[in-house]
Amino acid sequence: MHTILLTGGAGFIGSHLTRLFVRKYPNYTIVNLDKLTYAGNLENLRDIENEPNYRFIKGDITDLGLLRNLFSTHKFTAVLHCAAESHVDRSITDPLAFINTNVLGTASLLQAAKEAWAGDYENKIFYHISTDEVYGTLGETGFFTEDTAYDPRSPYSASKASSDHIVRAFYHTYKMPVKISNCSNNYGPYHFPEKLIPLCIHNIINNKPLPIYGKGENVRDWLFVEDHVRAIDVIFHNGKIGETYNIGGHNEWTNINLVKELCRQMDDKLGRAKGSSEKLITYVTDRAGHDLRYAIDASKLKNELGWMPSLQFEEGISKTIDWYLANTEWLTHVTSGEYQHYYTEQYHKR
Ligand code: NAD
Ligand code: DAU
Repeated sequence: MHTILLTGGAGFIGSHLTRLFVRKYPNYTIVNLDKLTYAGNLENLRDIENEPNYRFIKGDITDLGLLRNLFSTHKFTAVLHCAAESHVDRSITDPLAFINTNVLGTASLLQAAKEAWAGDYENKIFYHISTDEVYGTLGETGFFTEDTAYDPRSPYSASKASSDHIVRAFYHTYKMPVKISNCSNNYGPYHFPEKLIPLCIHNIINNKPLPIYGKGENVRDWLFVEDHVRAIDVIFHNGKIGETYNIGGHNEWTNINLVKELCRQMDDKLGRAKGSSEKLITYVTDRAGHDLRYAIDASKLKNELGWMPSLQFEEGISKTIDWYLANTEWLTHVTSGEYQHYYTEQYHKR
């Protein structure tokens, strides 16, 4: 039995995690605390919003007074910490927002949990969801393992690395029962269309340019989001306290090949002539400090806890495109207002 404070549940990964826990564990209570920034959207949770074991609270993880009240009211036994500023490009233009939420917000949650649990750690878990970007960048070979030294290079990854260190500090100093996972790039339904895959799907639908940074040779290791949250479930229940687990798809793609695969599948699904979407590919100025390659060695998770990705990429991307084509209303809603302003600012200067 758990009463879980799940942060950032209205975002991309958080909404899948919330759905999984609410449906799979009817005896748990899931309290979703989310500030509803531009990236948070309660439409992502419409199908479970009336479930009896789910509650939503709008609030900021940097608000220690609010966190203290929530711990006192709900007597949380666990934290699933997913809230973050998550987009690298935005961290380049506004680093302080990332340091505020990702560093101070994580520290505030740890402090509130420490005060509420007061050294009684029986059946308690603080689970911190993090990224492979903390390890920096790889050359053409090799993989990130849990022992790879941290070497973050963007304000986003530096803020996530910092939060990982603070979580570990609470484990070593106060014996807080923490778990951390570092995952590679996710894709799937409800992904906000500022990230490469949903942005290209959205732009292909609308016959708009597909912006490729630099030469498109950077490599990412893509994992279907439902496989990520399944891994979090396994680690939450069976992972060892104080341990870190890498999660990855064994699925490396250069950006340009990935976008060409998207174009190929979408021409097919939209009944367009072969090769027509590829004509939308436009090379633009590279991202500052653009990490060349990420690739995860997830063998610890496989060997200790038996987790493996369930979907081949071509199948996962096909499911994802189908979801976006069936949910154009969702796309219209999230691409209005503040996001339109960001889009003009971000791509106008390139
Ligand atoms: P997202 O940007 O889609 O969602 C973030 C959520 O956090 C939003 O709902 C937002 O409203 C909320 N939030 C932001 N600031 C907040 C604050 N101060 N207080 C409360 N809520 C706040 O992010 P995502 O892509 O779903 O990523 C979720 C987590 O997973 C992040 O910690 C990210 O670092 C990590 N991660 C993401 C990926 C990926 O590919 N997207 C991969 C590995 C790890
Ligand atoms: O590796 C995990 C990380 O993956 C997460 O921690 C981050 O939260 C998540 O946003 C993601 O970071 P990336 O920077 O890798 O994802 P993004 O989708 O922004 O970019 C993927 C690649 O595509 C990257 O090499 C940059 C490139 N790109 C991105 C955009 C938005 C383009 O070429 N054009 C674009 O317009």
